[in-house]
Amino acid sequence: MSREMLKDRVAIITGAGQGLGRTVAAEFAGEGCAVAIVDINPQTLGGVETELKEKGHTVMGYPLDITDHKAYGEAIDDVAKKWGHIDILVNNAAISLYGTILDDSLEHWRRQMSVNLEAVYMGTKMVVPYMVQQKFGRIINIASIQGFLSSGQCGAYNAAKGGMINFTKSLAVELAPYNIAVNAVAPGFMRTPMALINGVQESEMPDFQTWYVEKRHIPMARTGYPEDISGTVVFLASDYCRYMTGALLVVDGGLSSTF
Ligand SMILES: NC(=O)c1ccc[n+]([C@@H]2O[C@H](COP(=O)([O-])OP(=O)(O)OC[C@H]3O[C@@H](n4cnc5c(N)ncnc54)[C@H](O)[C@@H]3O)[C@@H](O)[C@H]2O)c1
Repeated sequence: MSREMLKDRVAIITGAGQGLGRTVAAEFAGEGCAVAIVDINPQTLGGVETELKEKGHTVMGYPLDITDHKAYGEAIDDVAKKWGHIDILVNNAAISLYGTILDDSLEHWRRQMSVNLEAVYMGTKMVVPYMVQQKFGRIINIASIQGFLSSGQCGAYNAAKGGMINFTKSLAVELAPYNIAVNAVAPGFMRTPMALINGVQESEMPDFQTWYVEKRHIPMARTGYPEDISGTVVFLASDYCRYMTGALLVVDGGLSSTF
């Protein structure tokens, strides 16, 4: 569906080795965008880089842990040096570790906060000076409906996503004078590697099928695919998104509209 909506733009996408980040990278590249893809997993990232290069797209892979702020900062500076500007940042990489307040650990809390929130702060802080200089930027934060709802057992993840939603609004206010728009997307259940529980897709489990599909607690009666979300991210990065900042776009098949 390429319309070259992101022609000549440069984007950094974190967590692009698989799942939603991978699909966003492919769609951005297909829309004419040069993509700098970041992931902690060099194997999956290398696969995406090779695939996109073979299709003739402009892509550069940066295998690194975004909580390593020095390595992440060097990658950001390298993108600006190579391609001359950074127009779009998609803060997508995240981890989710299950546990209740009774059995979870401070170590889990800290790791989720450092990947899901602190690295978002640091990555944004390091990219924004380039956007301010060019008086243009689009920052898209991939949050979750768990940032404002909860199914329990992932307090740290939910707290980080809730923080991300409010951080989005704060940045939107601070950065509007520089023509930088900051928006967030909240996916519902998505069919990606993150949704594997003991090797089984959450959406294929009998309870999920009964409650969310047959009883239509997801009104659209299915889980979402990365392709159901990535178009929203393309829109937020494109010139069609001119007068929207600080918004949270919920893409969940209607799940958060039911009770
Ligand atoms: N899967 C879902 O149901 C769901 C629902 C709502 C929101 N989300 C959000 O969507 C985004 C994408 O999720 P996904 O389902 O594609 O997840 P995923 O686990 O399939 O992919 C996440 C990617 O991030 C990378 N990553 C993790 N920690 C990293 C780090 N420290 N440094 C660099 N890269 C790192 C992983 O290697 C992986 O490639 C996340 O922000 C997630 O919270 C997912």
